[in-house]
Amino acid sequence: MIPNRYTIDVIAGDGIGQEVMPAAIRCVDAVAAQHGFTITWRERPWGSDYYREHNRMMPVDGIERLSSGDGIFLGAVGAPDIADEVTLWGLLIPIRREFFQYINLRPIRILPGVTSPLRDLNELDLVVVRENIEGEYSEAGGRLYRGRAEEMAVQESVFTRTGVTRVAHYAANLAQQRTGALVSATKSNGIIHTMPFWDEIVETTAAEYPGVKVEKVLIDALAARMVLKPQSVDVVVASNLFGDILSDLAAGAAGSIGIAPSANLNPEKIHPSMFEPVHGSAPDIAGKGIANPVGQMWAAVMMLDHLGQPAAARHLEKAFETTLAAGIRTGDLGGTATTEEFTQAVLDRCNAPLNARSLEPNNA
Ligand code: NAI
Ligand code: MG
Repeated sequence: MIPNRYTIDVIAGDGIGQEVMPAAIRCVDAVAAQHGFTITWRERPWGSDYYREHNRMMPVDGIERLSSGDGIFLGAVGAPDIADEVTLWGLLIPIRREFFQYINLRPIRILPGVTSPLRDLNELDLVVVRENIEGEYSEAGGRLYRGRAEEMAVQESVFTRTGVTRVAHYAANLAQQRTGALVSATKSNGIIHTMPFWDEIVETTAAEYPGVKVEKVLIDALAARMVLKPQSVDVVVASNLFGDILSDLAAGAAGSIGIAPSANLNPEKIHPSMFEPVHGSAPDIAGKGIANPVGQMWAAVMMLDHLGQPAAARHLEKAFETTLAAGIRTGDLGGTATTEEFTQAVLDRCNAPLNARSLEPNNA
């Protein structure tokens, strides 16, 4: 039986997180009502303001409090006056690791009515599957002789057979459901221990999936290919660092970093998963009411799919796609709509039944 009630923890966080989060929540509530379920939102006022008061990003028992929910909906964290490693390692990374959210799924598409900054690129539809809890983002290492001429820093990457195998399985399975083409981002010519290990495991794991063909591509060449011929890429599997960079690159090619979503998944659903836009707190535009809420809304679509509410997910997705197709766009996409104007237009479509004429692009 599909549940009709969910509890979601909300961490709106900093900067434009405070603006795009309420926009997305209103739309989710509207589609939930249309599709017969309700969401209880548990607001968690954690982030940089919390840090200024308590000297930590979230309470000591923050992880424990989140563990009883069905998912975590995150805006963005980061403030100009606090070191980025404090905000990242104090909130996001502990959540990803404690809840074993080892897959970071980042779909990218050119949405209707959006123009790519790349000349002649009209279509783009790919997914980056990023390893999310090990790899280059590790605590192994240290600094010696601080402040002296001899100062040095060492940071070790950590690649485990378990970690690489599970991300390879996830990506190969996804590739099998799409075109069968799986690109593995590597750098085994320069990084001679971890990357050949990555290559071997990805290759043997993907071989278990009939119809899936792995192409290993060096990360530098892949970056160029994502600009020159991104249509030639469908599913990419990448380590934590490579996946982070490639997904921002792909989001840029699709028109704006403001539209791209990201799901931090615990695929076994033993722990809650976390859904967030790819973008950060954007201090340069925070407080102006002009942020694009599509990244947050698309993250909500991924959350609804994960909760087992695909009809509501498609409804919300269609609602922002038809809004964009109707020419209603925020400034980052070359439009003039404010966050509120754009959100209201999406909300109107969320409040209409899914197949209503108001959802058709031509009648929008
Ligand atoms: P950013 O993504 O916040 O902003 C980059 C550029 O894109 C800015 O010019 C911004 O105005 C624009 N932009 C981003 N989202 C937009 C939206 N929804 N609508 C319109 N324009 C948008 O990245 P930046 O500037 O490197 O980082 C700012 C802060 O955010 C830092 O403290 C950083 O650590 C943090 N950050 C947090 C992330 C998270 O919470 N997951 C992810 C990335 C950065
Ligand atoms: Mg990033």
